[in-house]
Amino acid sequence: MSSSQRSNLHIKPFELLLDQTTINKRVAELGSEITRDYTGKNPLIIGVLKGCFVFMSDLIRQIKLPVEVEFVSASSYVKGSKQEKEIKFVSAVPTPLKDRHILVVEGIVDSAKTAVKIVKEFTKEEPASVEIVTLIDKPASHREKIDLKYKGFTIGNEFLIGYGLDNTQRYRNLPFIGKLVDN
Ligand code: IMP
Ligand code: MG
Repeated sequence: MSSSQRSNLHIKPFELLLDQTTINKRVAELGSEITRDYTGKNPLIIGVLKGCFVFMSDLIRQIKLPVEVEFVSASSYVKGSKQEKEIKFVSAVPTPLKDRHILVVEGIVDSAKTAVKIVKEFTKEEPASVEIVTLIDKPASHREKIDLKYKGFTIGNEFLIGYGLDNTQRYRNLPFIGKLVDN
């Protein structure tokens, strides 16, 4: 596609990073690992909207256990002049978390502030366990210490789109993952 066609469609230039076959294979591996680790349990799988939703819908179909599903919505906003990200929950989970095995599903962990805040909030409700599965991890960008038990792919400082991940709310519907590149 030429750059003028692309600008007509408002498509930013990107490069393919992870194709559908690669993603599907990794998601199946994660599903097997989770199935093995939670055998005999019925985990409560809590997705962090919106970036989780495509990944989570594929992942839960690879988990061969009696799972329950919930979602939370967290948004980050910049606080003060230091460009510090603050995380705000805009919804809580209606299912009681006490004594449950919670598996939090993230599309991407960047500063890790969202994940840290979520684990902290959920821990207050005394679950039996809380673990995180993220499709993408950006370890070089972490600003807080976080234990990510399950990771699909580890990347550098790229900005990714597709398979649920957005840039200004677009591109979530791309069936693959691309990285934005400069013009
Ligand atoms: P953090 O880990 O608290 O910084 O928050 C991660 C959130 O930032 C994700 O849930 C995404 O909404 C967004 N984000 C960070 N990096 C990317 C990216 O490369 N593509 C799309 N969204 C991203
Ligand atoms: Mg976003």
